[in-house]
Amino acid sequence: MSFRVVVPASSANMGPGFDSMAIALSRYMSITVEPGSDGDSANAQQDQLTDGRDMVTYAMQYLADSVGRTLPPASVRSRSDIPVARGMGSSAAALVGGMLAGNQLLGEPLGNKELLQLASHVEGHADNLAAALFGGAVLAVPVSSGHITVELDINMELSAAVLIPKQIGFTTDARAVVPTQVDRADAVYNASRCALLVHALSTGCPELLGDAMQDRWHQPYRSALYSHMDSVIAAARGAGAYGASLSGSGPTILALCHPRKSATVAEAMKHAADRHDVDCSAEVVTIDTAGAQILGLKKRSNG
Ligand code: HSE
Repeated sequence: MSFRVVVPASSANMGPGFDSMAIALSRYMSITVEPGSDGDSANAQQDQLTDGRDMVTYAMQYLADSVGRTLPPASVRSRSDIPVARGMGSSAAALVGGMLAGNQLLGEPLGNKELLQLASHVEGHADNLAAALFGGAVLAVPVSSGHITVELDINMELSAAVLIPKQIGFTTDARAVVPTQVDRADAVYNASRCALLVHALSTGCPELLGDAMQDRWHQPYRSALYSHMDSVIAAARGAGAYGASLSGSGPTILALCHPRKSATVAEAMKHAADRHDVDCSAEVVTIDTAGAQILGLKKRSNG
């Protein structure tokens, strides 16, 4: 039976939660799988590996190899409206989608938590992956046995505006500028804001998000790569966003807002980026709360 895997975009870090927090957004990768056909494939523009393979095919094979199985013949077609290499979780969506597709073809040898562990071995951190898989706002906390993932309650009306530059951002470059040692005052700054962010979302205190989404660990260093970053974040706040941050490793900027404000916030972000001559679009997106879905077959359990 053919099936389709649909996986949302995501915005990692949300300011202070470097490599450990993310939120899923309403842009999607869709992978259609037809088992038993001749194995042809046609894939959306997506993250490529250095050997030219696309991430979906790679993820399907990686999962099969990990469980010691051979993938049955199937045609695989993907399409995506998640911009590639902009800090919106395109590679995480492809990895999660490919692994879910491979897992489904093999009769679901892995549950979602095992699948997340496997994907994190490829990606290196699980923030975007957990948001793509589970939806909503998530914590992905690395522990000795893998990751503890927590799906956070969002007890407020929340939507988002994203400023998406045309400029591609390479995650490796954006990670290379982040210091590996953190000053004690900065550690306190970020740790306290992570706690505040979880509190603000789960207890429904949007007025705390402005402080909660601030960061001293990675954004100040990444601003050297993205001339628009500070101005666009300030413009979003000035237009009424609850809080704003660099989206993942950039160059996209995320603003969390009341749904009634998000169009105004998007417009203000675009004007600020225009002043920096950044070729970009600004869009309103919603928070995806469903996470990855397999359609055409029974719904997966979160096992
Ligand atoms: N947490 C990651 C980073 C997200 O900020 O580098 C990008 O993969």
